[in-house]
Amino acid sequence: MDIQHISVIGAGTMGNGIAHVFAQNGYTVSLVDVTEAALQKGMETIRQNLGRQVKKGAFSESDAEATLGRIVPTTVFVQGVESADLIVEAVAEREDIKAHVYQSLAEATKPEAILASNTSSISITWLGAQSKRADKVIGMHFFNPVPVMKLVEIVRGYQTSDETYQTVFALSDKIGKTPVTVQDYPGFVSNRILMPMINEAIYCVMEGVATPQDIDTVMKLGMAHPMGPLALADFIGLDVCLSIMEVLHNGIGDDKYRACPLLRNMVTAGLLGKKSGKGFYAY
Ligand code: CAA
Repeated sequence: MDIQHISVIGAGTMGNGIAHVFAQNGYTVSLVDVTEAALQKGMETIRQNLGRQVKKGAFSESDAEATLGRIVPTTVFVQGVESADLIVEAVAEREDIKAHVYQSLAEATKPEAILASNTSSISITWLGAQSKRADKVIGMHFFNPVPVMKLVEIVRGYQTSDETYQTVFALSDKIGKTPVTVQDYPGFVSNRILMPMINEAIYCVMEGVATPQDIDTVMKLGMAHPMGPLALADFIGLDVCLSIMEVLHNGIGDDKYRACPLLRNMVTAGLLGKKSGKGFYAY
């Protein structure tokens, strides 16, 4: 299937990064969010990130302007969606919100349109069931910051068709990313491996094994990770880390995936990391 017009639902951290990358690669993108404020914030982030790329000479001012010009922000949910060949959903990681979005998309989009989710942990097979168009539903899991990180985890749901998979795989390649195919099991590959590592680092803090700074230094200087696991947890959001641990624990049923009680306490206390101003570090 030839993808021409793309809609991105959700202008938050991941949604605006995804719209940025598609537009930078010449695609027209409608960027949809429920409030004007959320959209403006998303567009401003894209402007700033394009500015970084211009500053370091990777991009000319006119390329950046043209990229912005290809993104059409809208608060009208179905606007732009009806003509889209591909809809990338990047709304909040809540099943009730996603269920509503997939049911609405199934009615508002062309029957042949592909519905790709950027979910980091919700089952693609379950999203397919909500849409009643499971063969056209697939995971397209990007990584933050989206303009920088090369990976796209392509998640095949139980009923995702070969055609849907081949189209999304080829598109990911076309926009300069490296697609990797994974099957639909809890946490896919990325979070099945990443989150237990972060969770274990939080246990080390809870047990007083070392300070957060020292734990991060061990992983940065000893294992060449670009960020330590606790700085990364703050960057991802502690609420998101907790919810992914719960998906792993519930979905796989093994206690090795139980969330660290300190992580639960911090989330309950409102310490969510960078976005709340405090997590393992202050921002
Ligand atoms: N948009 C565009 N460019 C950006 C950017 C953004 N949002 N953020 C950073 N950059 C660019 C910078 O311009 C810079 O480019 P050059 O090297 O070409 O000059 C480069 O990225 C590095 O940025 P900085 O120098 O500002 O900072 P840094 O060297 O400390 O790198 C980082 C920052 C890229 C975030 C790096 O620390 C890193 O790779 N961290 C790990 C990130 C990670 O693991 N992400 C995955 C999170 S998990 C997830 O997203 C999915 C999930 O399901 C939970």
